[in-house]
Formats: sequence, structure tokens, C-alpha cells
Amino acid sequence: MALFKKQSKIGRDGLSAETMTKGARLIAAAQPKNPVSEQFRTLRTNIDFASVAKGDVKTLLISSALPSEGKSTITSNLAVVYAQQGKKVLLVDADLRRPTVAVTFGINDNHGLTNYLADANSDAQAIIHTTNMATLDVITSGPVPPNPAELLGSGRMTALISALRNKYDIVIFDVPPFLMVTDAQVLMSKMDGVAVVVSGGKTTKGALQRTSEILKISEAPVLGFVYNDQNQKKSSSSGYGYGYGYGYGETKSK
Ligand SMILES: Nc1ncnc2c1ncn2[C@@H]1O[C@H](COP(=O)(O)OP(=O)(O)OP(=O)(O)O)[C@@H](O)[C@H]1O
Ligand SMILES: [Mg+2]
Repeated sequence: MALFKKQSKIGRDGLSAETMTKGARLIAAAQPKNPVSEQFRTLRTNIDFASVAKGDVKTLLISSALPSEGKSTITSNLAVVYAQQGKKVLLVDADLRRPTVAVTFGINDNHGLTNYLADANSDAQAIIHTTNMATLDVITSGPVPPNPAELLGSGRMTALISALRNKYDIVIFDVPPFLMVTDAQVLMSKMDGVAVVVSGGKTTKGALQRTSEILKISEAPVLGFVYNDQNQKKSSSSGYGYGYGYGYGETKSK
């Protein structure tokens, strides 16, 4: 166990559905003084440093090789710590297959990204939901479509990303894993920066190698790696495991 005292249940498919049904645990919002929240702030600082080196990173995609490696937990907490800093932040649930953002932020209106992408007459503003943090907005996934990669690769998605990057200080995208489907790859070329979550205990060497090849071939603007220790045994005095170690690996330019 690492970040959380209670281990998440693993389904028969080997995946955790916890963040889809209960939402990601927003420790950065609930316990800003917890050492884990401090780790999220460190991640924010590292991204800001990488951003200075690369030019302004306003659109950031976070993925990992495989499912259940902590992408949604990290993207949502990262969005929170950026908002706590007063930045105008948008979190986009571009994981149209295993969405979490609506339930994480308690948004009942199911109108989201897929509604916008599938309807040429729809308005982008209608899918932007506010949250209880003044500077944090979210776009939920909307109903699961039959053709996620096609929608994410559409010209309409490209236009939406351009419009959003002008409205926010940072737009963070939660996407499916690199090795399962092409969705992350399709979106990568439209991003200023890509961060790769590596999970202690889950990400295998082979999976990481294949992911590195994909990133190289796609000439992805990789900022670095985020180490998520889902294995750590230690618990902090607050009852939370102290599991996130963020190592920003080599910075590769496009
Ligand atoms: N450092 C950690 N320590 C303990 N549990 C963790 C840690 N990071 C994530 N988890 C748990 O692991 C499970 C999977 O996390 P999460 O849903 O964020 O991963 P994901 O990569 O977004 O998954 P998916 O591929 O389904 O989108 C959740 O139950 C989450 O609470
Ligand atoms: Mg997820």
C-alpha cells in the first residue's frame, strides 16, 4: 500500500474501477498539509521548471503504459494544486473509455467532451463545468462513444484545444494508457507537454520500453516521468501511506 490506507479492489479484469465509481481521492484538496499533497506541489514545480525549459506548456497530457497506474489520481490532484496556486486550470477527461472526472468532482450533468465532438453545432462553453474551487473548471467525458480515438483525432478536437489554451493558464488531459489503445498517441501531437506515470510495482520493464518507443516514434514533447509508488508499505502519521515519489527524468525536446 502506498498513498492510501485502504487498498483499492481489483476486478476480475485485473483493473481497479474505484476512481470510476467513487472518484479519484483528492488528497490535495482534503488535506493540503499532508506530505502526499506536498508531493503533488513538487510535481507542479517540476512541471513548471520543465515548462520554462521547453517554452510555455499550457496543454499537458498525462498517461502511463498500462491501466490503473494512477493517471486519474495524479491528473486530478495536480489540477487541484495548480488551482490552489491561483492558476486558471481546466481538467479534461479525455479518457472516454474509463472516465472519472465527473464522479471525482460530483458533476451529475453527463454533458461532456463526446457530446461536443459528436455535434458540429454544439457550444464548447456548454461542456465546461465549474467546481467548488474558484479557478478550477473541468470537462467531463460525456457518454462513452463507439469511436473514442476517431473523436479525439478530429479537427474539432484540435480546434477545441486551441480555444481552451487561450482561456486557461494550464489545461490538463487525463487519457487512457499508451499500450492499450491509440487515444493518447492521437492526442499527443496536439499537446505542449507529455508526462508519463511509472508505477512502482505495476509498470514492467517491457511495458516501459514499448512506451518509450511510442514516445520516440511520435516525437512526443516529453517533459519527464512521474514515479507513483503504489507499492510502498510505510504509512504517515495521518493514516495515509506516503507513496508518491515524483522523479522527473530526462527532459527530451521535440
Ligand atoms: N500511490 C498510490 N498508492 C495507493 N493507491 C494508489 C496510488 N495511486 C493510485 N492509487 C489507486 O490505484 C487505483 C487506480 O488509480 P487511478 O484510477 O488513478 O489509475 P488510472 O491510471 O487512471 O487507471 P485507468 O487506467 O483505469 O484510467 C485507484 O484505486 C487509486 O486510488
Ligand atoms: Mg484513469
